Amino acid sequence: MDRFLRMRDDRDRLYGDVDLTPRPASQSRTVICVVMELEHVNNAGYVHGGTIMRLVDTAAGIAAVRHARRRVVTAAMDDMSFLAPVYIGDLVTVEAMVNDAHHTSMEIGVRVDVETVPTGEHRHVASAHLVFVGLDEEGRPAPVPPVIAETDQERRRQAEAKIRREQRLLRKQALAGAGQKRPR
Ligand SMILES: CC(C)(COP(=O)(O)OP(=O)(O)OC[C@H]1O[C@@H](n2cnc3c(N)ncnc32)[C@H](O)[C@@H]1OP(=O)(O)O)[C@@H](O)C(=O)NCCC(=O)NCCS
Repeated sequence: MDRFLRMRDDRDRLYGDVDLTPRPASQSRTVICVVMELEHVNNAGYVHGGTIMRLVDTAAGIAAVRHARRRVVTAAMDDMSFLAPVYIGDLVTVEAMVNDAHHTSMEIGVRVDVETVPTGEHRHVASAHLVFVGLDEEGRPAPVPPVIAETDQERRRQAEAKIRREQRLLRKQALAGAGQKRPR
């Protein structure tokens, strides 16, 4: 019971005030490893794309909450490419890190690699960018800390994330404009 109460306290803290001091991107780094089993595959023995997408969303969500230290929600997933098939028995590694944060939103970059265990062969099978939004007690968007990019790779990812954010906003505006012009 004590443990349950402690867990509730931990969870409730995700809705409270948040320290908005900028945080290094690397503090959000998250790695999940899963062996693909029967429950993950179709009749042909290929892993479902949805299985990989779920792992990507989970890893990105953990990276987002590690950065924000508050409750977060998936707002969008874009640029998800499947580069090679995944088979039963493969060891899937999903790595996620916050690329950049704006006011209430964060972009998380995720990379999925597969290892064929008997041979040790590695394959890059998917990459994705997701947007998560920090939430307050009422479920409204709430501020998240800025991201400190410390390495050349992190600085490149942060710069690219800013470009993708601008593109998302332009696309949203363009689609909203198209909706207004649509005949009834
Ligand atoms: C995500 C959500 C909280 C945004 O709420 P909203 O009222 O549209 O919020 P705002 O328009 O004020 O935008 C808040 C931030 O989210 C970003 N955002 C909102 N929708 C977005 C989208 N589709 N793609 C990328 N960013 C988005 C905005 O750019 C803004 O970022 P900023 O504060 O850093 O500038 C809301 O749409 C929501 O709750 N969606 C459902 C989320 C969910 O249930 N996810 C699980 C799905 S299974």
